[in-house]
Amino acid sequence: MKALISAGGRGTRLRPITYTLNKHLFPIANKPMIFYALERIKETGIKEVAININNGDKEIQEVVGDGKKWGLNLTYLEQKGGALGLAHVVKNAKDWIGKDELLFYLGDNIISGSIKSLVEKFKNNKLDCLLALSKVNDPTRFGVPVFKGERIVKVEEKPDKPKSDFAVTGIYVYSNQIIEAVEAIEPSQREELEISDAHTYLIEKGAKVGYEEITGWWKDTGKPEDLLEGNGLVLATIPNKILGALDKNVKIRGRVFIGKNTKIGKNVNITGPVVIGEGCRIKDSSIESYTSVDDNCEIRGTDIYNSIVCSGSQIIDCKKRIANSLIGRDCSIVSENFTKPHGHRLIIGDNTQIEL
Ligand code: G1P
Repeated sequence: MKALISAGGRGTRLRPITYTLNKHLFPIANKPMIFYALERIKETGIKEVAININNGDKEIQEVVGDGKKWGLNLTYLEQKGGALGLAHVVKNAKDWIGKDELLFYLGDNIISGSIKSLVEKFKNNKLDCLLALSKVNDPTRFGVPVFKGERIVKVEEKPDKPKSDFAVTGIYVYSNQIIEAVEAIEPSQREELEISDAHTYLIEKGAKVGYEEITGWWKDTGKPEDLLEGNGLVLATIPNKILGALDKNVKIRGRVFIGKNTKIGKNVNITGPVVIGEGCRIKDSSIESYTSVDDNCEIRGTDIYNSIVCSGSQIIDCKKRIANSLIGRDCSIVSENFTKPHGHRLIIGDNTQIEL
């Protein structure tokens, strides 16, 4: 069995972050999102892995490299013709897949548990397709299975009126018959080859399509609030470890990881789960639950809660608490007192969201 990870697309719902960073590289608990997919795949014992990237994309390769770090043999496949849907990602990989079975993993999905049992169930039950399901509050955002008794009889993509409260997550296991399916289906109304249509095709052709409910949590990180939730869920599992230097009065509660060469100075409260990267400088601040601060950031005189701060950013003397925020790389958020005449000075890119 080979594994294919999708890491292309435009990430429109995560603009402006995705103007300058592929969303699959956005840090979740200070680690590029796609690393979680690679770790999960490594656990299954699969060695041959391809990553589907946008045409001309070098960013993912620069960060992920040749895969040796995970003991994987990595190939990069450019999606010819652009982002034409998830079934197109599989179609585009046809030559690379050859006659093998396939684990298809959407690189923006993060899950807490192992996927080994999914692969085992697929093999033991001699399935052609195994869909990993998860119960969700709002199925209209996902592919939704339609059940007849215990059997899935159809998968509907983002239905207005979902017929079950399950989402088909972005983790799929296939026999080689998936190639026939992705070649047979037609583009949807949004001009994409939908993976849900490929699943329905397999069902209609009489292929053995099974499912398994994911144990633990699952997150599709398409929108800013999903990223924050995914980040919080991963933070709750980080090791409690302090490698940096702490002032003697620093108050730490809960699960906290602090990287090396980071200095936590006077008047700092840290309430976990929190991860702070390497080479950061923090003083006179509260770093509160579900916050991750990546390498080389400076935070002074600021309280921050449930947020992700990417590397190289500085946040200084913000009078109001920062909450539920995504702050990109090398950003500067400082008190308005720093500039004259008095007032908020904003130099921000397109599609930025600010609540003052
Ligand atoms: C895609 C699939 C959808 C699936 C979801 C899981 O949707 O089309 O069927 O439920 O991934 O993450 P997207 O997130 O690309 O809109």
